[in-house]
Amino acid sequence: MAIADTQVAQMRSNYCGLVTESLMGQTVSLCGWVNRRRDHGGVIFIDLRDREGYVQVVCDPDRAEMFGIAEDVRNEFCVQVKGIVRARPEGTANASLKSGQVEVLCHELIVLNASVTPPFQLDDDNLSETTRLTHRVLDLRRPYMQNNLMLRYRVAMETRKFLDANGFIDIETPMLTKSTPEGARDYLVPSRVNEGQFFALPQSPQLFKQLLMVAGFDRYYQITKCFRDEDLRADRQPEFTQIDIETSFMGEQEIRDMFQGMISNMFKTVLNTDLGEFPVMAYADAMHRYGSDKPDLRVNLEFTELTDVMADVDFKVFSAPATTPGGRVVALRVPGGAEISRSEIDAYTEFVKIYGAKGLAWIKVNDVSKGREGLQSPIVKNIHDAAVAEILKRTGAQNGDILFFGADKSKVVNDSIGALRLKVGHSVFGKKSGLFTKGWKPLWVVDFPMFEYDEDGKRWSAVHHPFTAPKDGHEDWMDTDPGRCIAKAYDMVLNGWELGGGSVRIHRADVQSKVFSALNIGPEEAQLKFGFLLDALQYGAPPHGGLAFGLDRIVTMMTGAESIRDVIAFPKTQRAQCLLTHAPSPVDEKQLRELHIRLRNPLPI
Ligand code: AMO
Ligand code: AMP
Repeated sequence: MAIADTQVAQMRSNYCGLVTESLMGQTVSLCGWVNRRRDHGGVIFIDLRDREGYVQVVCDPDRAEMFGIAEDVRNEFCVQVKGIVRARPEGTANASLKSGQVEVLCHELIVLNASVTPPFQLDDDNLSETTRLTHRVLDLRRPYMQNNLMLRYRVAMETRKFLDANGFIDIETPMLTKSTPEGARDYLVPSRVNEGQFFALPQSPQLFKQLLMVAGFDRYYQITKCFRDEDLRADRQPEFTQIDIETSFMGEQEIRDMFQGMISNMFKTVLNTDLGEFPVMAYADAMHRYGSDKPDLRVNLEFTELTDVMADVDFKVFSAPATTPGGRVVALRVPGGAEISRSEIDAYTEFVKIYGAKGLAWIKVNDVSKGREGLQSPIVKNIHDAAVAEILKRTGAQNGDILFFGADKSKVVNDSIGALRLKVGHSVFGKKSGLFTKGWKPLWVVDFPMFEYDEDGKRWSAVHHPFTAPKDGHEDWMDTDPGRCIAKAYDMVLNGWELGGGSVRIHRADVQSKVFSALNIGPEEAQLKFGFLLDALQYGAPPHGGLAFGLDRIVTMMTGAESIRDVIAFPKTQRAQCLLTHAPSPVDEKQLRELHIRLRNPLPI
């Protein structure tokens, strides 16, 4: 034992998870947590865990003092083990562990710190998210979370390396700032010093990065927090991290090429995956074919346009939207889908209602050669022969297929049939029938419209943000036909998720003013909100553009995690709460008074 002590002077010589055959016969000193302690009548096994993985420690009773300690250690005790690496006995190797060929024969066991009984077994894979987030520290100890956060770090590192190699410099921008129009609600911070006034936490560094271009920094990046008070989903957090980038003197295509390179390089170095070429799809094309501006190209199903075909059918459900401006009728052909049961169709009908659809008409194609006689459907009796023939022709329907129909305002059709497309594609049936191709399907979506018309507010709003440049020549339509203006904007999409997006910016004050006016932002309001930008644009602002990627989303995709919360150390719940720290929480009256705030409905503290 004395020999071991002098051989290993450091507190820790190796990580548990990295003890392999290469250390055979050597004395090691390991520090970690007791994952499990197994008493095999006479011999005690400890699975010792650290961030690199597990190693099996064997405690023999012939070292009485050490064995006595081993009898007392419990799960999650933090311990130090000194011992000798040896081969596991024949037949007991564990191929799923890096250390699975070896074990450590324990000479000395030191309890560095005991643990109370954990509220759950760390290797329990069925923990509720509430339990995990409430006891986040223990949850983070689990290999799943350790791996996710280590991969996140590698992604951030590869990003920094790539950007550094390409001359981008990291410049910090303020967190206490003025509202930026990314379309969400702001998180506000009251100013104590300036009574009645508020900072906004940035929804993105958008305006500052543009100012840095005007300031001549040429190539900027930042891996930074952004704050948006919006409805939360599996891919959204109220505070999330952007890889935020801006460059001067590069055009739309050059920017896309460079950052396609960055993402491809990231997947290559971190996952050893080739993303291949990214197809480029116009926004209009994506909406037309998939009803979505972030189509999941792993799903091999497409819309068939039928609006023109349905104008004169004797079925109001179809003819009304087909003859109303802004209406749309489409079919979704599902090859082999005739085997989908009535109860499954009913379930799909309920599903599309979530997206505002009023129903889900369908036709099962039993024998296409028999025309309408070969079809089974609740609606086909209302559709005249020519339209039936055209449906079959355009969809390319084959025997054994099902056609689903959406008819409504375009938005409802796109949302509901777009969601149905994914639901069917990802279903057991879809996977079995080859409607889903595994792997990575990246693409660029480009040529977004500059503006979209908000029916409720009866006004135009920016599709990307109001600093996005129109395609050359399109600025002329800004006063007369804003809906026609196409933007120099682009989104990168991967497997149906928007990973990032950006645009070439407006670098001339006169064009920027035109956009504000199209958005119904008058000169005074523009000056008040964005005066600092308009001013800066007057001092020889360079042509510039950029984009931002959602780091949390990239890492979620790479790890295959179900939720963005699984790649963030301390995330918020869907209700924007931190279950660990109990934020947000009431504050005392004195703090409020200092901030000049009185609550309308005071909470009990
Ligand atoms: P945008 O608003 O598209 O663009 O955001 C860029 C990327 O950030 C990610 N993202 C989010 N991730 C998690 N939770 C959220 N709530 C959330 N919101 C956005 C997405 C998205 O693609 N300033 C512009 C970029 C630019 O024009 O350069 C911007 O913020 O992955
Ligand atoms: P109805 O005549 O309303 O009973 O509807 C006949 C069929 O059309 C049913 O299968 C409905 O699910 C379907 N349906 C109703 N409204 C729509 C719609 N807006 N889009 C697509 N199908 C619909």
